[in-house]
Amino acid sequence: LRSALRRSAAASLMSSRGFASASGQQRKVAILGAAGGIGQPLSLLMKLNPMVSHLCLYDIAGTPGVAADVSHINTRSEVNGYAGEDQLGAALEGSDVVIIPAGVPRKPGMTRDDLFKINAGIVKSLCEGIAKYCPNALVNMISNPVNSTVPIAAEIFKIKGVYDPRRLFGVTTLDVVRAKTFYAGKANANVADVNVPVIGGHAGITILPLFSQATPSANLSAEEITALTKRTQDGGTEVVEAKAGKGSATLSMAYAGAIFADACLKGLNGVPDVVECSFVQSTVTELPFFASKVRLGKNGVEEVLGMGHLTDFEKQGLEALKPELKSSIEKGISFVHDN
Ligand code: NAI
Repeated sequence: LRSALRRSAAASLMSSRGFASASGQQRKVAILGAAGGIGQPLSLLMKLNPMVSHLCLYDIAGTPGVAADVSHINTRSEVNGYAGEDQLGAALEGSDVVIIPAGVPRKPGMTRDDLFKINAGIVKSLCEGIAKYCPNALVNMISNPVNSTVPIAAEIFKIKGVYDPRRLFGVTTLDVVRAKTFYAGKANANVADVNVPVIGGHAGITILPLFSQATPSANLSAEEITALTKRTQDGGTEVVEAKAGKGSATLSMAYAGAIFADACLKGLNGVPDVVECSFVQSTVTELPFFASKVRLGKNGVEEVLGMGHLTDFEKQGLEALKPELKSSIEKGISFVHDN
């Protein structure tokens, strides 16, 4: 059945040529897990991005249909669907940016770490493919637990001799998106003008929004800051519970993933001063990986920015998150060496 599925997927591999602008740079983006809850709306949003000339949608199944659908949108990029492991190489070959939302999402009562067993193996095999077929791509890791899957990717790339820390990113943009939305509501600010850095990692208390650095500034009480911090940390769980067993954030995540990939593409294309928060290899703290503001450029990370001044509340949050983040990072590294 598996090989029959693959054959039919190969037979119906879709391709369509969009309207490539002669002046635009050629940029190929691959989405791994493109038929999923995040993957589908993310494919749509990347199809709308004028910097993308070639969009490759990969999943274990279902991508020919998603690709056929998305390819009819009259924007620049050519779209191809790839299904099954034997098509992974073709999907990845020559990619500038690879976005990975492959894997299982949470159900109520689960932590992101509960996903480790399944997603660690998926991420490992996809990263082996990246090392082989597009070792220079910028990798945007969405699959959870991000605090462990990013170290897994780094170890795989090291083993394969292609690791460049400037090219590996844990996507924490949804934490920033949530912090902005929740802050705007409390601060009575226009959400479009709001900025909030979020540092640390991407799970529970490892998510540390820095509302003291939020702009425009607002005079929020300590109680309000505490509540906003908690809501940002629990934002994912809020969605998991509301979806009641039907998965986790997909639409807001697709939006956040599209924002981050757009920033990566802008950096590659030489747009100056592109800054986003991301979970990257870091010396900002004693931990080997840490999320903070990052300046993006032609080779990926151009500069990992520091965390700026923290309030006592934020300093406490930072110290509290370190043990959990450290152990999640170590769990990812051990997984690669024990398997
Ligand atoms: P989903 O189950 O709807 O979709 C996952 C897709 O991955 C499926 O289409 C599945 O076929 C595919 N897949 C499974 N194994 C694969 C493989 N070996 N190669 C390629 N594709 C494979 O899940 P959803 O909701 O799209 O979530 C995906 C991941 O994103 C989960 O791990 C989830 O926890 C994570 N996530 C991350 C967030 C973040 O802020 N970084 C936010 C929300 C979710």
